[in-house]
Amino acid sequence: MPPPILVYGAYGYTGRLVVREAVARGLEVVVAGRNGERVRDIAGRYGLAGRVFGLDDPGRLESEVATVAAVLHCAGPFVRTSAPMRRACIAAGTHYLDITGEIPVFEATFAEHAEAEAAGVVLLPGVGFDVVPSDCLAAKVAAACPSPRSLEIAFAGGAGVSRGTLRTMLAHAGEGLRVRRGGVLERLPFGALTRTVEIGGRLRRVVAISWGDVATAYRTTKIPDITVYTDLGRSKLVGPAGLRALSALLRVGPARRALDGLVARRLDGPSEAARARARVELWARCVGEDGTAVCGRMTVPDGYDLTARTAVEAAAKVAEGAVPPGAWTPAQAFGADFIDGFEGVTVRVPAPC
Ligand SMILES: NC(=O)c1ccc[n+]([C@@H]2O[C@H](COP(=O)([O-])OP(=O)(O)OC[C@H]3O[C@@H](n4cnc5c(N)ncnc54)[C@H](OP(=O)(O)O)[C@@H]3O)[C@@H](O)[C@H]2O)c1
Repeated sequence: MPPPILVYGAYGYTGRLVVREAVARGLEVVVAGRNGERVRDIAGRYGLAGRVFGLDDPGRLESEVATVAAVLHCAGPFVRTSAPMRRACIAAGTHYLDITGEIPVFEATFAEHAEAEAAGVVLLPGVGFDVVPSDCLAAKVAAACPSPRSLEIAFAGGAGVSRGTLRTMLAHAGEGLRVRRGGVLERLPFGALTRTVEIGGRLRRVVAISWGDVATAYRTTKIPDITVYTDLGRSKLVGPAGLRALSALLRVGPARRALDGLVARRLDGPSEAARARARVELWARCVGEDGTAVCGRMTVPDGYDLTARTAVEAAAKVAEGAVPPGAWTPAQAFGADFIDGFEGVTVRVPAPC
């Protein structure tokens, strides 16, 4: 039996999917979180060991993670939860993975590369829908593009968002739009960049968003200009101007906290049936120094189901020792073809732009 993987935040919406997937694969898993009743509930359901601890006592955290091979961190917003867990893992010599999509968390984690290497620890953030498929697609189009200069990624589809995803987006609301230009992270007003792209067989107007690839695709490909877009679905009725106004409102602390409280009380996540019906379409376009454009396309299952599969596969590989110490993106750790083997994934590179 391989040494155990500790899933922290195991009773959250995504944590529950991750635990179910890990158990289905026969992995040895310990479930953990800060709420004793909820940890005992999920541990009992699958006959697993459960541990109850918060993230605010560094000594306790270090001793808890010291007994496992890898932590798969599923408790977000990670801007509040990742640093203490990373610190504990580096101190204990335990590998760390998470399912963040948050740009500041990626940047902070990659800044710890040398420290992780020295400690013999793997730091692998973003092993969910953010950013496994887009990171692999970015690596594939970059490899096919001569002297890549700019990268655009767009995605559309999915069954909806969970409470945790919405609360995480709220935690970053008001920060504006993050893009990469000349290798540097830049801030633009939200709604500042839109474009039209054919995704999933129809032309869509997509709007640029602050998405993890602005950090991870840069680390994977070194392409200096990176923008990520999405189809905002129903919210496109509001339009970029409306979204700018909403973003300004959410910069106001009390408004943001009121909405966060509402989301925390009211929302869980998309139903199993809705997820099973949903697909996400991704598109990427890399342009080289000489103007050559290379595009790629990918279809994947709903983001939460995909997250459970990619996160568990990544954690299993890391726990087995398949990745050298240091801080990596998913495509750096496993190669650009990592995504290809998952059920329901189709990839085309090059593809019509
Ligand atoms: N990469 C991806 O594609 C991807 C996919 C899915 C989710 N996510 C991210 O994963 C996170 C969780 O999403 P979710 O849908 O599972 O949300 P959720 O259902 O609200 O669950 C959040 C979990 O995090 C725990 N938690 C939050 N703050 C904590 C803290 N300070 N200390 C300890 N535990 C804490 C919660 O425990 P309590 O209930 O005790 O607060 C709960 O177990 C979000 O940040 C989301 O954006 C990313």
